[in-house]
Amino acid sequence: MERLPGFRDFYPEPLPANEAWSCDLRQHIFARWRETARRYGFREYDGPPLEPLELYTNKSGAEIVSQLFNFQDKGGREVSLRPEMTPTVARMVATAERAYKKPVRWFSIPQLYRYEKQQKGRLREHFQLNCDLFGETDPAADAEVLALLVDSLRCLGLTAEDFVIRLSSRQAWQRFFEARGGDPARAYEFYQIIDKIERERDEVTAEKLRAVGIELADVQAFIAAGEPTPELAAVLANLAARGLRDFARVDYGVIRGLAYYTGIVFEAFDRKGEFRAIAGGGRYDNLVKLVSGGKVDLSALGFGMGDVVLAELLKARGLVPSFSGTVEIVVLVEEESLRDESIGIVQRLREDGRAVEFALVPTKGDKQFRRALELGARLTVRLQQSPAGVVAAIKSLADRSQREVALGDVVAACRP
Ligand code: HAM
Repeated sequence: MERLPGFRDFYPEPLPANEAWSCDLRQHIFARWRETARRYGFREYDGPPLEPLELYTNKSGAEIVSQLFNFQDKGGREVSLRPEMTPTVARMVATAERAYKKPVRWFSIPQLYRYEKQQKGRLREHFQLNCDLFGETDPAADAEVLALLVDSLRCLGLTAEDFVIRLSSRQAWQRFFEARGGDPARAYEFYQIIDKIERERDEVTAEKLRAVGIELADVQAFIAAGEPTPELAAVLANLAARGLRDFARVDYGVIRGLAYYTGIVFEAFDRKGEFRAIAGGGRYDNLVKLVSGGKVDLSALGFGMGDVVLAELLKARGLVPSFSGTVEIVVLVEEESLRDESIGIVQRLREDGRAVEFALVPTKGDKQFRRALELGARLTVRLQQSPAGVVAAIKSLADRSQREVALGDVVAACRP
């Protein structure tokens, strides 16, 4: 049985094939993300992988809605696997915001599902670090979230030479559009044309723009000028105070496809432009109100960073560490008459916190020893008869030195 297209199997290292996905790399990325979010005071939350379809229709925008994994459940409900976390977290915050001090700083690492055409950097499931901050409208909050984005990549060894955040503003584009007589009701249509501008041929873009009353040359000149809005200028100054100015630049070529953004928007890319976006986000000050049916009004902003492009980038930059095995000690059972006592030692070592393996069935001694070497174990422990009774021979695999200890002393002697 083949797995479904766009879905991944994650194997423990060593990997069975070059192109296989590593569960160790995944855990490495998640551990660094969690540690970085903690340093910024973000608390972890989670939500359901399956949501009412309604949570996404009208809120996320046409592109994501066309990619939903949706169906009717056995109770006749219209449901969808979550394609993104933002509507879920907006609902959760709206429900429980009274219980939390503002600003609320939350993160999550959900697995998300989008029925996309499988291509480089795009699959039908991915994991995404989501960091969102609720209840603060000042650009200081935008800078805080951007600094967290920078550190969520730096914690994996990437530097300002590897990636850059392209900063833009929906308000800047809104003002541009309205100043040229654009119909406010068609603003999102206009944003979607800008969102595709880098992937579309100029003639096609020009035609689409003309339909909403805008000239391509005008748009191009606006992007080229890259004049920061007062909010963007404040964010850049804040990043400069942190020593992070080199990680961001104003770039109105970014506008984001999702419908709910209202303010500053941004995307992180590799500097060489070899990969798709590593992360994207922005301000969405109306979504909590929309999701709560007008009951709760809370400003919000955040980002999502996917694991797929990130893993490709880490591999390309040689930043994937080698993952050694986790077994510390192999207990060698060379004398079957000592098997029960050996198992007793295995158990006591494990209860003391050591990671221990042993041959489950009778196995040649040299084979057991080779296995200890393959596993990268630190020690072997072998019980043997001596004139004084049974003793344990403990061997260090680093320098092959060996010592004998009484059975009662094995656990203490094996501590690192
Ligand atoms: P997004 O731009 O749709 O934003 O996704 C964020 C990141 O997730 C992308 O930059 C990309 O790295 C990764 N990603 C998205 N789709 C796929 C896919 N099919 N395969 C692999 N990776 C993918 C959002 O989802 C927003 N909800 C982020 C956000 C949080 N905005 C505010 N808070």
